[in-house]
Amino acid sequence: MLRLQARFRASARTRVISTALPVSAESERLVRKNLPAPFAVRAIYLKHVRHLSYPTPLTSCAIIRGQAERFPVPKELYAMKVLFIGGTGIISAACTRLAIERGIDLYLLNRGSRETGVPGAHHLQADIKNQAETARALSGHTFDAVVNFIAFTPEDVERDIALFQNRTRQYLFISSASVYQKPSTHYLITESTPLANPLWKYSRDKIACEERLMRAYREEGFPFTTVRPSLTYGETIIPLAVGTWNRPWTIVDRMRRGGKVIIPGDGSSLWTITHNTDFAKGLVGLLGHQQAIGHAFHITSDEVLTWDQIYQAVADAAGAELRPVHIASDFLVACFPEMEGGLLGDKSVSVVFDNTKIKRFVPDFVATVPFAQGIRRSLAYLKSDPARQQVDEDSNRRWDAVIEAYEAGREQAVQRLRTA
Ligand SMILES: NC(=O)c1ccc[n+]([C@@H]2O[C@H](COP(=O)([O-])OP(=O)(O)OC[C@H]3O[C@@H](n4cnc5c(N)ncnc54)[C@H](OP(=O)(O)O)[C@@H]3O)[C@@H](O)[C@H]2O)c1
Repeated sequence: MLRLQARFRASARTRVISTALPVSAESERLVRKNLPAPFAVRAIYLKHVRHLSYPTPLTSCAIIRGQAERFPVPKELYAMKVLFIGGTGIISAACTRLAIERGIDLYLLNRGSRETGVPGAHHLQADIKNQAETARALSGHTFDAVVNFIAFTPEDVERDIALFQNRTRQYLFISSASVYQKPSTHYLITESTPLANPLWKYSRDKIACEERLMRAYREEGFPFTTVRPSLTYGETIIPLAVGTWNRPWTIVDRMRRGGKVIIPGDGSSLWTITHNTDFAKGLVGLLGHQQAIGHAFHITSDEVLTWDQIYQAVADAAGAELRPVHIASDFLVACFPEMEGGLLGDKSVSVVFDNTKIKRFVPDFVATVPFAQGIRRSLAYLKSDPARQQVDEDSNRRWDAVIEAYEAGREQAVQRLRTA
């Protein structure tokens, strides 16, 4: 913490503004202009917290005849102004909630097809793929930070560099921890683990985005920060290696009916699943963080589980008995080629994330939601509304077919070896 920067004598007609945010000259001018009569501002107290970019107290302090009096200062007068492209998705919704809670003046740009009118956020409606529409929606705005949650290709990033070059002091690109070397040569992943994933185009595209941004930073000073989430879930998701992202109830329903579930490998590879409320603490802590420019961070839980433990936690939360069938990932990919990236290029490979870097830059970052607890929240959310309990019958049929074929093949192998 820096020391208070202004010393002065308070008088009956003096108000002292104390915030935990760096106050820009423009904000200071607005604060002075907007304070109600008869008080005049004699000084703006800057309580500058070096690593925290958000205001903790949302009150200001007036000293009147020696007595401290608290009063609210309108957020737009001093808060960081931040844009989220997306903001209502699986990862971003939790970041939205936390940013608002921490007093950020938040704008969400999306098509408005999900939860519109997030309380406390301004909504800009546009399809980011429509550059003219987006430019219209952003007209007149500049930001302290912009986070694009939905950039996937170098073309998306090229568009963002053009859109935001002189419009933001920081641009955060949401990449993916699947960019790290596959298969990995070391189980412990740091931000300097090589980026190479020959097994998943999604990851190669994210790597190309990161590289384009680094070039823009080097050549044009484009102020980017890269954030790499690994498997991250919120209450709307049951995050499993073989499951259904869009109809998460499918696997719960299957377990509750006593059905067998597929676990890749022998269930003992190590994986980390992060709750979106934990991810949000790291991401929001990076907003406006001047030292984070040009850097990449992953943000994950420190909890490391085996896939068997993860599936067991889901079964426990569902009140069901776990009936696992362990099938080698390459067998699964031979049956379902579309799973290659998500399995061989991601979830079947043991990874343990070293989160030292995000903790160094955002010292209050700590992941606090164990998977067994977070997944109960997801179950409660899904159970509370029948409309959330849709089942993907096609996936069920395909899983049944592969389990049947695998078990029949195993039985045949056993018989053949007995008679050999
Ligand atoms: N979840 C994970 O495990 C994981 C792991 C690694 C990386 N990631 C990365 O995390 C990001 C996903 O973030 P998320 O979970 O918040 O996303 P999400 O659940 O896919 O939500 C997408 C958000 O973007 C908006 N949106 C979608 N298409 C749009 C368009 N054309 N124009 C404007 N807005 C649009 C959506 O609102 P509307 O529909 O109303 O427009 C919504 O707010 C991706 O970059 C992904 O690669 C996720």
